[in-house]
Amino acid sequence: MSGGAVDDGGGAVAGHQHSGGISVTELTGADGGEAAVRRFTLTAQEATVRLDSGAQVAAWTFNGVAPGPQLVVRQGDLVEVTLVNRLPGAGVTVHWHGVDVPNAMDGVAGVTQDAVAPGATFVYRFRASRAGTYWYHSHEMASVQVRRGLFGALVVLPRDAPARQDAVDETVLRHTWGDEDGVATLGLAAGVQRRSVPVGRPVRLRLVNSDGKPATFTVTGAPVRVVAIDGTGVHEPGVLPGVRILVGGGARYDVEFTMPDAPVTLRADGPGIVYSPSGDAGPDRAAKEPALLDPARYGTPAATPFAAGSHFDRRFVLRIDERLGFYDGRPAVRYTLNDASFPDVPMLMVAGGDLVEVTYVNRSGQHHPMHLHGHHMLVLSRDGRATTGSPWWVDTLDVGPGETFRVAFRADNPGLWMDHCHDLEHAANGMILHLGYT
Ligand code: C2O
Ligand code: CU
Repeated sequence: MSGGAVDDGGGAVAGHQHSGGISVTELTGADGGEAAVRRFTLTAQEATVRLDSGAQVAAWTFNGVAPGPQLVVRQGDLVEVTLVNRLPGAGVTVHWHGVDVPNAMDGVAGVTQDAVAPGATFVYRFRASRAGTYWYHSHEMASVQVRRGLFGALVVLPRDAPARQDAVDETVLRHTWGDEDGVATLGLAAGVQRRSVPVGRPVRLRLVNSDGKPATFTVTGAPVRVVAIDGTGVHEPGVLPGVRILVGGGARYDVEFTMPDAPVTLRADGPGIVYSPSGDAGPDRAAKEPALLDPARYGTPAATPFAAGSHFDRRFVLRIDERLGFYDGRPAVRYTLNDASFPDVPMLMVAGGDLVEVTYVNRSGQHHPMHLHGHHMLVLSRDGRATTGSPWWVDTLDVGPGETFRVAFRADNPGLWMDHCHDLEHAANGMILHLGYT
């Protein structure tokens, strides 16, 4: 199911050693036809998992593998997932990251449900109404459980535009594994995977970053198009000679190319995957480092249900301080929401139907991938400059050091939702807001 992968050697993060790696899953399943009920069982269980480094670790997994099984459904399908908890002594949930599910299905322990206790089960049901690349993960003690292996990919195939039967469609998940204490268990390793693809074949790569820190994915060797961001299609994406994409924690980017007669290389902060034309493992075309993608300028403008000049019913400003503070005795990111300072920040209160503007101001030196549950945000501007490309929809927006983003969303999914930093260590130290409906 999940292939071996590469290891970037990790690096010191928050004082702990980690080992990063990527995992590749080829797409199979979910044939066309009528909308169906797709049933899956995810069993949270301990299992020994072999990391890219070769190290065997005691992971927490869904169904004995990390990443968990890739769930593939077709747009319009009703997805029914039975979560079974066989972990010793720990509760677990499943959150459908990027899918705007009904609130009760959001899988946030302590907010939308209680954590599912050892021995217990819970059934999630939702309609997969948008096609795209998503992922799922436990949302109980997420900073520990996700890193330890409780996550996987969810792919929703478009209903009306079936991919060519022979197209190569792969999900490439980048993940840094760590155990409960965040202590490194592994060393380096790193090989380059080689995959053979017939010349002329369309290739789609679904890039997923399940880490909290941003990852840079680079594709060289073929003209590429970035076709989707956080599951939403880019409108008329232009062809780039190669691309470098900063994928924030929790975010997804889909890229496509047609297999040329020379190798194409995908790197994820280090060695990666070489796609070689079948029957030939020739040398890479000398590729220079491609330009970094700016999603605010990429693709072609198109109509959106609201825009920068719209009347906003609510406005919120989240300002992340330059300096860290302390929370519960631990260093914590400090921030204010409108005029209230962490930890005494109120909920973002909205009424159903409101058009809501949120401004994220990051004065800190760190990346903060802001993830809003249950809604998709349209990026209006980046650092004061309006977006000029395709409508840029996100569910997880990497707000880099010094950056300011204005985004907007329609409050059309009542419930109690999180809006939090997907650097899950930041979240564990208080970088969590809640969106509530009056
Ligand atoms: Cu991917 Cu609140 O989570
Ligand atoms: Cu953060």
